[in-house]
Amino acid sequence: MCGIVGYVGDRIATPMLLEGLKRLEYRGYDSAGVAIMNGKGVETRRAAGKISRLEAAIAIDPPQGTMGIAHTRWATHGPPTEVNAHPHASQNGKIAVVHNGIIENATALKAGLEARGFVFKSDTDTEVLAHLIEAAYAGNLEAAVIEALRQCDGTYGLAAITSDEKDKIVAARKGSPLLIGVGENEYFIASDASAILAHTRNVVYLDDGDIAVVTRDGYKVMDLDSAIRDKPVTRIEWDLQQIERGGYPHFMLKEIFEQPTTVENTMRGRLILEEGFSKLGGLNISKEDLLKVDNIIITACGTSWHSALIGEMMIEELCRIPVEVEYASEFRYRNPIVTPTTLCIVISQSGETADTLAAMREAKRRGARTLGLVNVVGSTIAREDDGGIYLHAGPEIGVASTKAFTSQVVALALFTLKLARLKNLSVARGREIAQALADLPAQIQSILDRAPEIEELAEEFKRASNFLYLGRGYNFPAALEGALKLKEISYIHAEGYPAAEMKHGPIALIDEMMPVVCIAPHDAVFDKITSNIQEVKARKGKIIAITTREEPSLAGKLDYEFRIPETVDLLTPILASVPLQLLAYYIAVKRGCNVDQPRNLAKSVTVE
Ligand code: F6R
Repeated sequence: MCGIVGYVGDRIATPMLLEGLKRLEYRGYDSAGVAIMNGKGVETRRAAGKISRLEAAIAIDPPQGTMGIAHTRWATHGPPTEVNAHPHASQNGKIAVVHNGIIENATALKAGLEARGFVFKSDTDTEVLAHLIEAAYAGNLEAAVIEALRQCDGTYGLAAITSDEKDKIVAARKGSPLLIGVGENEYFIASDASAILAHTRNVVYLDDGDIAVVTRDGYKVMDLDSAIRDKPVTRIEWDLQQIERGGYPHFMLKEIFEQPTTVENTMRGRLILEEGFSKLGGLNISKEDLLKVDNIIITACGTSWHSALIGEMMIEELCRIPVEVEYASEFRYRNPIVTPTTLCIVISQSGETADTLAAMREAKRRGARTLGLVNVVGSTIAREDDGGIYLHAGPEIGVASTKAFTSQVVALALFTLKLARLKNLSVARGREIAQALADLPAQIQSILDRAPEIEELAEEFKRASNFLYLGRGYNFPAALEGALKLKEISYIHAEGYPAAEMKHGPIALIDEMMPVVCIAPHDAVFDKITSNIQEVKARKGKIIAITTREEPSLAGKLDYEFRIPETVDLLTPILASVPLQLLAYYIAVKRGCNVDQPRNLAKSVTVE
């Protein structure tokens, strides 16, 4: 959510900053801007809209200089206009600031600054920071940034430059991710490593409370009291190819098609087929302590929350431990029951979602042990949890989450398998689940091979204004996820329901114009969902069924049927989700929507 890049070195900064911004565009695409130290002073260029507009705006006369900062914005304060685009300048024009996060006391600070004669040009909270830094500046940028931040409540990942110190970028982090890229005689600042991977694999992750001073000659990291903090340099293991489209028209489609591999990668080295067991080296908890866990809270947002619901059912069914699933955004604003034997599982693709991170910290504060299911290696949640299971799904760039979701469910199944076998799940049942996991990649591939069938279906339904998604048991969360995918990228209103709930209200919506996606594999609740399908059909709803077998009682009732392979009940939502991802994707493309960058969204939501 908002992306920051900075560069200081010997090369011309503007092209590198623009390239870095494009890699971060998934974090927000409301406006973009650069501020370059051009030898005389700070030269700023900004544009509303996507980075391509900024690029076009500066193409004729790009600012020249070997140091600069840049930003792509997801609007929080103020509409997505050029005036509100970052970088923001201080009153004397000597200081430029880019910022990710929210300054919560911006209104009060603004009033104070206005009383001192500062004139505001934008509606943003960031401009407050620029003026505060100017007001505190006495020849040393880091000292001024620290002084300004002392007055601010809220969150920030920020970078600042001043024309009075032409060789220095000062960065600071509290709540919004930031790292330093360490190159050969050149250094970078970035919200995530993808922005700088073309130039260096060596990064220093900043932690909350860190202030970094980066110059052509090196960097130092200190705290708000100016005490130096030692930070390790981490090497990024993934490469540029993984964050490129590789011939696919969109990242989302590429990521959907990667799932046979990503699901396999989540399981690699972890599944012990003959013992029906899983090996999870990162849990960082002894068998004895794991067996003492008597209640589990799973917390997450969005798609990750849907996988949490599936995890709840798996763990309760097989481990017989009560599980509660909490929206991360709600968790810390009530008074959750956490005991010393609570395990809090935190699920996040990015590992940076502000609400999820805050929920994890709250669970820790209340004495729970935390376990992160995270995709992005080195992300804040991954660094702060007590133990974790990395998803190993590779970078997910499409704003709508696909491969991370299926890997999350696989990781939850691996965890469930381990815990259930440590408790009292039989070897035979453990082997059955382990084998079903091992079969998933080929089964997903067999669904993807039939993508053209889903594309045809999308043609049929691309003009619909509403969709219902129904599922029961393990596939109720799959229904929620199918509906979320459709609404976020195609802007068609879609709702997911437990199929039987439909008759308590939503059934009123059903008529011949209403497509109803029914997830109906032959599982423990199959007979129940067939009755719900009959109820929809009786009201002339258009039924799109995801099934696993022919069912005589449904003959003639299904308008469209897509068969998925059979698997154990707990893994059906993985296979059911793949055609639903494809359906959402093709409908959105056919409606002319930008599937990789849906309106109003950003991938990594680092504000509350
Ligand atoms: C939907 C989607 C979001 C994320 C949510 C949590 O397709 O991607 O709902 O799932 O913002 O993000 P993470 O998993 O990064 O914490």
